[in-house]
Amino acid sequence: MLSQAVPEVETPVETGVAQSFWLPTPASTIAGEVDWLFYFILGIAIVFFVIIVVTMVVFVLKYRRPPGTQPPPSPDHNMALELTWSVIPTILVLAMFYFGFRGYINMLTAPANALEVQVTAQRWKWLFQYPNGYVDGNLHVPVDTPVQLVMRSEDVIHSFYVPDFRVKADVVPGRYRKLWFEATQVGTYDIFCAEYCGTEHSAMRALVEVHSPEGYQEWMDEAANWFKNLPPAEAGARVFQVQGCASCHGADGSGLQGPPLQQKFGREEQFNDGSRVIVDENYIRESILEPNAKIVAGYEQVPMPTYKGRLSDQDISFLIAFIKSLNPEATEKQDEAPKK
Ligand code: CUA
Repeated sequence: MLSQAVPEVETPVETGVAQSFWLPTPASTIAGEVDWLFYFILGIAIVFFVIIVVTMVVFVLKYRRPPGTQPPPSPDHNMALELTWSVIPTILVLAMFYFGFRGYINMLTAPANALEVQVTAQRWKWLFQYPNGYVDGNLHVPVDTPVQLVMRSEDVIHSFYVPDFRVKADVVPGRYRKLWFEATQVGTYDIFCAEYCGTEHSAMRALVEVHSPEGYQEWMDEAANWFKNLPPAEAGARVFQVQGCASCHGADGSGLQGPPLQQKFGREEQFNDGSRVIVDENYIRESILEPNAKIVAGYEQVPMPTYKGRLSDQDISFLIAFIKSLNPEATEKQDEAPKK
């Protein structure tokens, strides 16, 4: 997988270490070890490639059978030669295994004091939940601090990949997968999904923000109060983005794979069993927690996952406010409603 092309980084990476000719910025504690092993294996491959190809060409020219002659009898068994070409490659392969396995074990075993972040992978979104309960679509970490990711998938196999940190791990549904790293450079780095997971696989990206220790504390304090100064509809728009609703319903609620949500609140919705209901708070809440209770006509093929246990009541209220705001008519009507 080392040959896999790394897409151009959109966000400028502000680090002290320059990107090398073909490897991305080494920005974690294990990057040096991984790169060293890569060059070690590459070096061996190049040396043997040259030896084999040069010998082959020389032999082809030197021992070419002149026309009209018979080839001499083939040489017999040569013990010294056989041993040489068995023992040397064995030693080299064992060395590769030793260094590779040692690195692999280091990458699996997080230091005891690691900061833990919960990661959820879903089509086609990464979600990061911090110790204070805050959820973000990007990963924020302090520099020079070991970070342990506890990852799970909502649906299919994804793969968490940060080229600059040289870490990658498959996230398999039905089990937790851990991965740790320690960033060494303040900056912004790309996160990719490295396992084909559906149509929007290539868009399943996020960023790692590596903060200074003080910067991280500040970010944490701010993050814990993210909704304090926002109107509920705007807070809902953020939940809608962060929780991945937008990847099916469209960022503005105009609908992609999932039904559109614009101009829906206060209107009638028709379901696949022929029944109808007026879209209100109760219906939206039910659709979030039990999406299969009522299926909008024409959307039988794109089942929505339940968000039960994944959203707080507050998040659901924000989402309702957001969906309401997508139909200004409904909001106006309600505002104008005569008071009894
Ligand atoms: Cu998730 Cu590809």
